[in-house]
Amino acid sequence: MKVYEIQQFGLESLVQAERPEPKIKDNQILIKVSAVSLNFRDLMTVMGSYNPKQKLPLIPLSDGVGEVVAIGQEVKRVKVGDRVAAIFAQKWIAGEPERKRLGTTLGGPYDGTLAEYIALDEDGIVHLPNHLSNEEAATLPCAGVTAWNAIISHGKLKAGDTILLQGTGGVSIFALQFAKLVGARVIITSSSDEKLARARALGADETINYKNNPDWEKQVRELTDGNGVDHVVEVGGTNTFDKALKSVRFAGQISVIGILSGPSAKLNLVPILMQNLRIQGIIVGSRTDFEDMNRAIELHKMKPVVDKLFSFDQTREAFEMMASGSHFGKIVIKF
Ligand SMILES: NC(=O)c1ccc[n+]([C@@H]2O[C@H](COP(=O)([O-])OP(=O)(O)OC[C@H]3O[C@@H](n4cnc5c(N)ncnc54)[C@H](OP(=O)(O)O)[C@@H]3O)[C@@H](O)[C@H]2O)c1
Repeated sequence: MKVYEIQQFGLESLVQAERPEPKIKDNQILIKVSAVSLNFRDLMTVMGSYNPKQKLPLIPLSDGVGEVVAIGQEVKRVKVGDRVAAIFAQKWIAGEPERKRLGTTLGGPYDGTLAEYIALDEDGIVHLPNHLSNEEAATLPCAGVTAWNAIISHGKLKAGDTILLQGTGGVSIFALQFAKLVGARVIITSSSDEKLARARALGADETINYKNNPDWEKQVRELTDGNGVDHVVEVGGTNTFDKALKSVRFAGQISVIGILSGPSAKLNLVPILMQNLRIQGIIVGSRTDFEDMNRAIELHKMKPVVDKLFSFDQTREAFEMMASGSHFGKIVIKF
């Protein structure tokens, strides 16, 4: 079967290779992959900055969907013909994240989904919402579940709350869609006015160009009568964390998800304690989070935003698009 392998770190060493079709154990299923999606983590993995100690060669990507084409003798949750998505951390079914559960993530350390066939334990999948195409459903496992976990499972966002989202990448656009689904008010930032117009079309209430307005946190406070927002989805890291602290209300929550502009920040601890803030680290979510999210997506017939579809042979171009930051929502590869 055809796969892509990271043979050495760097985009030029992401190459097509042949591997034997995987054999399934009694508790496993064989999935013929039909679509996969890219996350920023996958780009970091390819470049060697996510885990420089990652053993190579590695098949990248955590997100993939397809049809079950064979099942082991003990399999009960799944039947041949089912449409399924892989879960991000294969052993994290429910409850809190633990080191041993998070060591089972696809696309590193485990081989990922950028392959014609993958074999997974029957517990490591969810079924897809019926109304979604395979390409749409391929966006869900990492960015979708992360946004859901941050603002719904942990954040308990509710109608009337105000949430601040940074940029218009995969996680932030899912967060926008979930926030509108529960009736919250969305303030979203972007480096591009054109992307902000697309965000408004999806229901964003207030938009701020963070390139033209480097002091955007002041605008956030003005938009909230000086109070600050109830929740911030923090994906920027170094350049945004301090601004997130200045944007949130007393006793509000900052979900720390990404480090797009760098991993460390000079921190003033005083507002955290004096304003009783909750700083919540988020690492994707469990299979239960994924199933809860799918129920909501199905009920509301929500459609994820697929910005661009690439073919399997165009995989490198897909990664180049992610590296350029020109996308809005998700980048998908269709087999
Ligand atoms: N903790 C977890 O479990 C988890 C899960 C998924 C993702 N993540 C992390 O979350 C971050 C976002 O992931 P993603 O997959 O959504 O990425 P993505 O799709 O590549 O989104 C990137 C977008 O973020 C915006 N951006 C970049 N730098 C920014 C900055 N300094 N301030 C504000 N916005 C900025 C840009 O939007 P505009 O073009 O609109 O400006 C850019 O297009 C990454 O760091 C990723 O590793 C973490």
